[in-house]
Amino acid sequence: MTASVNDLITLTPKDSCNTKLAAGPWDFDTVPGYGPGSSQADRLPDPVSRPGQLPERYQLMPEPELHERILAAKATLGEELVILGHFYQRDEVIQHADFVGDSFQLANAALSKPEAKTIVFCGVHFMAETADILSAPEQAVILPNLAAGCSMADMADESSVETAWEEICETYGVDPENTLPDAEGKLPILPVTYMNSSAALKAFCGRHGGIVCTSSNASTVLEWAFERAHRVLFFPDQHLGRNTAKAMGVPLEQMPLWNPRKALGGNTAEQLREAKVLLWHGFCSVHRRFTVDQISQARAADPGVKIIVHPECPMPVVDAADAAGSTDAIQKFIAASAPGDRIGVGTEINMVNRLAAQFPDRTIFCLDPVICPCSTMYRIHPGYLAWVLEELVAGEVHNQISVEPEVAVHAKVALDRMLAAKPKA
Ligand code: 13P
Ligand code: SF4
Repeated sequence: MTASVNDLITLTPKDSCNTKLAAGPWDFDTVPGYGPGSSQADRLPDPVSRPGQLPERYQLMPEPELHERILAAKATLGEELVILGHFYQRDEVIQHADFVGDSFQLANAALSKPEAKTIVFCGVHFMAETADILSAPEQAVILPNLAAGCSMADMADESSVETAWEEICETYGVDPENTLPDAEGKLPILPVTYMNSSAALKAFCGRHGGIVCTSSNASTVLEWAFERAHRVLFFPDQHLGRNTAKAMGVPLEQMPLWNPRKALGGNTAEQLREAKVLLWHGFCSVHRRFTVDQISQARAADPGVKIIVHPECPMPVVDAADAAGSTDAIQKFIAASAPGDRIGVGTEINMVNRLAAQFPDRTIFCLDPVICPCSTMYRIHPGYLAWVLEELVAGEVHNQISVEPEVAVHAKVALDRMLAAKPKA
């Protein structure tokens, strides 16, 4: 078994993207910002969502005791509880999950246990919001640490997207509240939001004939969108949008970047009229660390190496890789490889280390030599999991995520479209 990311960070702080990662996540819960591992350019999370401090006894509890307490609470709660875990969660958390998957699979998993009173979501905020929207009204969704957000999701806020939509619709000479189909039966534009976005933006898509996508079904979703509209406004991840549309044959000149701080997003009206995909200026700070140089170095050291990366990586990195896909696709790629294969992976380190441990007869390594977990996924420490579960046993629900019904109703329209757009094999 390889060392956990926690151990690696503690043992080799000089090789981590930020030595402060060796500290507990509760040390960052009350300070502004996303904490170590995030990029300087990341927008700060909403301070209102700051949680109270984790009770000190859970901060001080040794890992084996936390493990035993989680097991005991799970046994007491039985069928009343389901724990969902994203692939990027640390091993100490993932071992307690009833379902492990990518964001598309976890959205489906939230639907699949209507008998559970509580869904504990070991992932990030937008995933828990989605679970709340898709689950039955009487089910409670808990995010063990409310500070587990996503810096990319925060790069598109509701008012900037509304403003952009108004400017874009004005350019096309259509009513932003009622973009009717033309003689061809197509809308001038429709919005597509990546799953990594707030419930408010999913609701925006639901209200404007749009849809949600994940990294696993993005091409199915873009096909759906182009059957209904001439253009797409894609937010917040420019890289997923560009990589997916490029693979479908959309020329780069027809994919202008939309910078929300500039008039017309920094484009001319002519560019907007020619566009097929307007790409919001967002990115993931974990995936933009991967470079073509890292791939060239891996190939120079071992010409037989295979490279797979997540489509949140910049386009030149995806182009230089042998394959790109969601976290589930990465997992399947490795499972389908042969003993002795060497595979360089461009995604989050917890997942890469777990795959390396699962397939010890292959050489599986992270392309980025510097240890850098997703700093917000990392905030779901087993201390938080033990705390919320023991509180549930005591009849207390902490850190519940509840999306306002008037937002949820529209967001669900866009999410139901997403669930119907199955990932390609
Ligand atoms: P997946 O849908 O591939 O799980 O990606 C979610 C995510 O946040 C990756 O950074
Ligand atoms: Fe967000 Fe990137 Fe973390 Fe995924 S890896 S949750 S996109 S910050």
